[in-house]
Amino acid sequence: MAEKMDAKLDYSKQSTETPVDTNRKLRIGFIGCGWIAGSHIDSYKRMSDVEIVAGCDLIPGKAKAFFERNGVAGVKTDYASHKEMLDDDSLKLDAVSVCTYNRQHAIPTIYALNKGVNVLLEKPFTVTLDEAVEVMRAEKESGKVLSIGFQPRLDANMQMIKKIVDSGELGKIYYIQTGGGRRRGIPTPFGTTFIRDDTAGLGALADIGCYSLDMVLNAVGYPKPLTVTGYKSDFFGKDPAYYPNHPEYAKEFSVDDFAAAFIRLEGGIILDFRIAWAMNIDTPGDTILLGTKGGLRIPSTDCWNGTVGGPMKIYKTIGGVNMVTEVPIIESKGSLFDKKIRSFLDACKYGLPAPVPTSQILYNQAILDGIARSARAGKEIKITIPKI
Ligand SMILES: NC(=O)c1ccc[n+]([C@@H]2O[C@H](COP(=O)([O-])OP(=O)(O)OC[C@H]3O[C@@H](n4cnc5c(N)ncnc54)[C@H](O)[C@@H]3O)[C@@H](O)[C@H]2O)c1
Repeated sequence: MAEKMDAKLDYSKQSTETPVDTNRKLRIGFIGCGWIAGSHIDSYKRMSDVEIVAGCDLIPGKAKAFFERNGVAGVKTDYASHKEMLDDDSLKLDAVSVCTYNRQHAIPTIYALNKGVNVLLEKPFTVTLDEAVEVMRAEKESGKVLSIGFQPRLDANMQMIKKIVDSGELGKIYYIQTGGGRRRGIPTPFGTTFIRDDTAGLGALADIGCYSLDMVLNAVGYPKPLTVTGYKSDFFGKDPAYYPNHPEYAKEFSVDDFAAAFIRLEGGIILDFRIAWAMNIDTPGDTILLGTKGGLRIPSTDCWNGTVGGPMKIYKTIGGVNMVTEVPIIESKGSLFDKKIRSFLDACKYGLPAPVPTSQILYNQAILDGIARSARAGKEIKITIPKI
């Protein structure tokens, strides 16, 4: 890559107002043109150094309709699959957004990397740990940028959590409780791809659980998970009464709507986790980090969407007095999605590290996979991370 930026970009300070070098445009393709692809295209359209050149979807006509609806002309869409699109060398793709359902995360990503194309892959990383490992092997072999779509990382409040931990004010962190959920929020606004095993693979556990895990694991430096005791259930998803307008969805529901786990992390940290798409309570609790010198409370949101739910509180005892410090909410400037797309484009353009690297999200995936395996086995399991 000829252009190297002088200093590493600080993505937390980035906004769409950052000057962009438009001399070199990046040629972008879309794999999967469903719901979240809409957020990707909105952001790409705001980037002055991007040309959207191609898109594909397994459903015939869906890609063409997507670009028409989004007012982007001249995009090639006559591909039956991601393979056909990536095999079309005339496109000269710099990067693709992989916006497919979870079961189709690994396959197109590996294919794109093997073709020498940079990839922005939507979250969760994959469904299984083995898939994530295969993807990382392809990433390593290709030398290309692969970033995972965790835009909450770019929120100033989420970054504050890491700053608090890194400051040392909490001492050694030994216990973390995290998770969240919705009282009623099984995601079926555009059909059933989130609730079927053959498309989603995992339910609430991966869909929103991956965000909760990232929030705390990123803050404490992504320690390696060692063992997991996991539980999953599907009482709401399988109940026809849950969907008054679509009782037939209950038969299709084949993932989890609730998951809980007890995870041991390297460095002596215990992680207590629970996540729900549906439950008979308002919240399964705030996120808390307990350290030897202080504690941190991060309020839960009532519709877990990867944000801090209110002012955080730091608990310390100073001179024998119990004190509580409130951390005010920081108003975010600019769209998190724009920051996610911009940081990915800059990594591709200037040879910077992936904004959300697989080396970290591998451990997130190992936990999701471990919870699913432990739930099936009905006992604690050891996590073994294969060599990449
Ligand atoms: N970052 C976020 O805020 C966020 C929000 C929602 C969803 N997501 C993630 O985005 C992904 C997609 O979610 P969605 O809501 O857009 O799903 P969706 O079902 O609306 O769209 C997925 C599309 O991918 C297509 N597809 C699947 N495999 C394909 C392949 N190999 N080649 C071409 N097209 C293929 C499907 O036909 C479908 O149209 C999920 O993994 C989800 O977790 C992320």
